Amino acid sequence: MKENKDYSYFSISFGLVLLDKELPYDLYINSSTHASREKFVKIFKKENILNSEDLHTFKDKYYQLYVREDERELYLKSLGVVEGAADVEKAAVIKDSAIQYLESLFDEGHEFSNEVLDEAIQGCRDSVESMVDVIQDYSILEVQNLIADLSFHDFYTYDHSINVAMYSISILKALKPDAGRFELLMAGMGGLLHDLGKVKIDTRIINNPGKLSEDDFQVIKKHPEYGRELLNEHQCSHDEINFDLIKRVIGEHHENFNGTGYPNRLKGKEISVLARITAIADFYDAITTKRSYHEVLPTADAIEVMARSVGRKIDPKIFEIFRKNVNVVLEGKSHIELPDDFDPCQPKNILPLQKSAPKIQRSDFLDKEEQGFGKVKKKAS
Ligand SMILES: [Fe+2]
Ligand SMILES: [Fe+2]
Repeated sequence: MKENKDYSYFSISFGLVLLDKELPYDLYINSSTHASREKFVKIFKKENILNSEDLHTFKDKYYQLYVREDERELYLKSLGVVEGAADVEKAAVIKDSAIQYLESLFDEGHEFSNEVLDEAIQGCRDSVESMVDVIQDYSILEVQNLIADLSFHDFYTYDHSINVAMYSISILKALKPDAGRFELLMAGMGGLLHDLGKVKIDTRIINNPGKLSEDDFQVIKKHPEYGRELLNEHQCSHDEINFDLIKRVIGEHHENFNGTGYPNRLKGKEISVLARITAIADFYDAITTKRSYHEVLPTADAIEVMARSVGRKIDPKIFEIFRKNVNVVLEGKSHIELPDDFDPCQPKNILPLQKSAPKIQRSDFLDKEEQGFGKVKKKAS
């Protein structure tokens, strides 16, 4: 970010400037010839209409365009209607913005003011709003491909949170095709903030991809409660955010469907539906997204590994819809699974895959009649 007196500016790509409509933000250039000094000059006023010829002229004359930081929200919102740019370019800008807001949350360490939290949450909301614009019609596999095309950073929590936000939006859409914008926004916000409580945990522990000591694991397990407390302690009030819902996602995303999770051993429908969606998004991202420190599972294997957690860790019905949406022919390694205590929120050097019992050709949650084998009739009682 470049500083100029009271304002800061961020650079934007020529291909992502809104054309032929009222521009909602001012455009600037850096007119300084000194690398160490910057002088930002407005070259195009908002509320005017920029056309492609104007943009061409700018491209020939200037090296880089900038927007003032306090107009980032307007810039992000305009991305949804920019034509001719690839979604991956838009998603890269949205991701960079989301990272900036997540950084401001996580860099503050253990204490932070209402103001910082408020601003960061507002920024996260703006990012998710643009995310919804770009990916709302994406299938889960399309989200997966998009994630693969975006560059990754080596701070697990940022990339992971953004990916979980995108998957959660996509899963909700698969589950409920007529989901409204607000619901999609909440799914994205839940995903983006689900690990918020990690802000209170030593980064040495949260970024450790190796095997954690039992003590460290006990500390990590506190992050759902820490996150919920954080939002309780601060009076966050934003229109268009249902904080009760977000607090439930944060507090319940490590609850297991069969009641063996933490912190409160909730089970089944006691866990909010958005937290159950987030848990699936969380799991899938952890095993399919390439990181510098571990390899990933092919899609079919990932689905197979998750299928083995159905009914124990994850919601069977949501998973069925998830699986159908991914629509893979299951030719995966049917002999592998992940332990029940696998933590998708924690980076891993190696996925702790283990050999499993032979594959059972049915879903754990279906009763015998639904499984269709033998057409078992219920005995008359
Ligand atoms: Fe988590
Ligand atoms: Fe997570």
